[in-house]
Amino acid sequence: MNVDNLLKQLTTKEKIGQLLQLAPFYFDIDLKAEVAGRIRSLNIDREGIFMSGSVLGISNASEMIKVQQKYLDINKHKIPLMFMADIIHGYETIFPVPIALASSFNPLIAFQTARISAIEASTAGIHVTFSPMADLSRDPRWGRVVESFGEDPYLAGVFSAQMVKGYQNDGIEKIGNLAACVKHFAAYGASEAGRDYNTVDVSKTALYNMYLKSYKTAIDAGAKMMMTAFNVLDGVPATINKFLLRTVLRDQWKSDAVTISDYDSLKQVLDHGCAENEKDAAYRAIQAGLDIEMASVCYVNYLEELIDEGIVDIKKLDEAVLRVLQLKKDLGLFEDSFKGASIDREKELVRSKEHLKISKKVALESAVLLKNEQTLPLNKKQKIALIGPYAKSKSTNGPWSWHGKIEHNLSLEEVFNNNDINLTFVSDAENIDQLSQQNITQIEASEVVVLALGEDARLSGEAHSRSDIKLPNHQDTLVKLARSLNKEIVVILFNGRPLDLSNIMDSNAILETWFLGSRATEAIFDLIYGHANPSGKLPMSFPRTVGQIPVYYNHLNTGRPLTDNNQNYEYLSRFLDVENTPLFSFGHGLSYASFKYSDLEISQIEFDVDTTLRLSINVTNESQIPGHEVVQLYIRDHVAKISRPVKELKKFKKIWLEGKQTQTVVFELDIHDLSYFDSNGNETYDSGKFTIMVGSNSQETLNIDIWLKGVKHDYQK
Ligand code: BGC
Repeated sequence: MNVDNLLKQLTTKEKIGQLLQLAPFYFDIDLKAEVAGRIRSLNIDREGIFMSGSVLGISNASEMIKVQQKYLDINKHKIPLMFMADIIHGYETIFPVPIALASSFNPLIAFQTARISAIEASTAGIHVTFSPMADLSRDPRWGRVVESFGEDPYLAGVFSAQMVKGYQNDGIEKIGNLAACVKHFAAYGASEAGRDYNTVDVSKTALYNMYLKSYKTAIDAGAKMMMTAFNVLDGVPATINKFLLRTVLRDQWKSDAVTISDYDSLKQVLDHGCAENEKDAAYRAIQAGLDIEMASVCYVNYLEELIDEGIVDIKKLDEAVLRVLQLKKDLGLFEDSFKGASIDREKELVRSKEHLKISKKVALESAVLLKNEQTLPLNKKQKIALIGPYAKSKSTNGPWSWHGKIEHNLSLEEVFNNNDINLTFVSDAENIDQLSQQNITQIEASEVVVLALGEDARLSGEAHSRSDIKLPNHQDTLVKLARSLNKEIVVILFNGRPLDLSNIMDSNAILETWFLGSRATEAIFDLIYGHANPSGKLPMSFPRTVGQIPVYYNHLNTGRPLTDNNQNYEYLSRFLDVENTPLFSFGHGLSYASFKYSDLEISQIEFDVDTTLRLSINVTNESQIPGHEVVQLYIRDHVAKISRPVKELKKFKKIWLEGKQTQTVVFELDIHDLSYFDSNGNETYDSGKFTIMVGSNSQETLNIDIWLKGVKHDYQK
């Protein structure tokens, strides 16, 4: 198929159709009343529908086959529809939510889960997934942190890239692989106050050095599509933002990824006050470089007029349509328009035993042990009271798992029973008011109170921001009750965002499990009973109080920083009522093993721009318990043209250590690891001191100072 020739055969209207994405119900054979109503509300006719280019969301193979068949019967040029969907952390086999995946600090896991998601989703004839979400998130009030890889651009970049590689694998033309659509370009995670869809206002240096990095890493990994964000950037909605879509994506990153708006986000440009009407919105979008319009019809209704009036050059339209047709060709849709969609493949591959087994393995690596006063692991002889909203709940899939069914999951109670745990009392009470005096007597008969607490899955995700991020519905009263009864308290958290845990710190152990997916509770059981050793680390800081937000580890230093030596001085950058540090910082996570770091060595103390530095460090498991450890390497650039963060993650390695084993871990660093971007997006660096920090988390590290020679500062020239 020659897409240039195909383009020439299309009328302007047909070309514009390729840029429209609609939901499957628009193609419904009988055009039921409800559907017809929606079509009217979108102001689109039947002809327009059967010229559209792609479909958003499809449930299964038979639905896909039905829609594609009907479309091809009617569409004059037989250009197949491209099917896109939100396959975010699994299709029917559900994996841990992205923030949990990032907690594994194991990039292979991201690759593997994306692979399985692609294999399963492809059986429904899905061709593109709206994943990964590379938005850097620093504000836990924002519900969508659950879909993110957290607050660090390097970690988010590594995970985004691995997801892209996992989906696209050995080529999007092959059955079983999907094209990846990175989202939401750009800086959606910086919405003010964490309120979804809110204003974003970030500097160019923060943009290039923090927010843009993870999208760029995903694009460099070969992502075929990029979705725009709902927010403005520098006052201009991302969907019509020429700087993002042309300067950054095309000119600076040299990407030919197909761009797509977010749901209805082109029409929303009117609400932003940046277009007079839909015609104006269409004009601005095509000029800016938006290819596909999702779920609104500014292009369909006005682009032809704009071209006829000579306001828009048809070349702009052709450019966009060619990119779409090329992607269809690259996906192999002209040869096989039903590619992958097969009821037999669905039966064989979806929720296969092997996939579920991997889901559990991934869950084991994604939980984070936040606190442990040697209470965990438990032993099977202990008498347990199991209480809390997640004691009997199977809702462990989390947001964006629309193909996954929670009925397939087991509750903690079921897993405890399957393993013959001596349960003195089980209740899904959310707080002390829901317990009777008799219940309290039953709790008294236990040795350990296991509290399964958290947020309902609907409290995080899109449009689910919270201003108070404590555990809801007074769940902390259960901790207080157990404390008053002098019980050992183990809290298991199910939630989609870093929470303010200050009022449950009386617990003896806290295991953050996020939403771990299809095999969550079995993995949790193995972790708390010591059949597996926790190894997750936080990809996002947990604040002490909502008033500290945003609190993140890779912040700038300020001119009046608080240090260990100046605590008594008054005029410092700090709060009067709370420490500057978070409750649990980025990179934190405990193990049942204890790891010691020693002998940090570096190949050179002074180095040039073309030096590759080699660092080594010994990590010893001082315990008898085998386990994973995440060795983290941070840097600080002390003198630069712009203020640089006090710490930045540059490398990490997840290693396995048997009891009493020592391993030497080696890292290499070059100038790109020590450089930064100026406000035009140019890479730059300066001579002088850098500190390299290596350790088990972002706060406890062994440090070494090094100096970059040979680059002059301006005052030296
Ligand atoms: C979300 C996107 C998603 C799209 C399509 C939007 O509301 O912001 O992340 O991919 O819907 O479902």
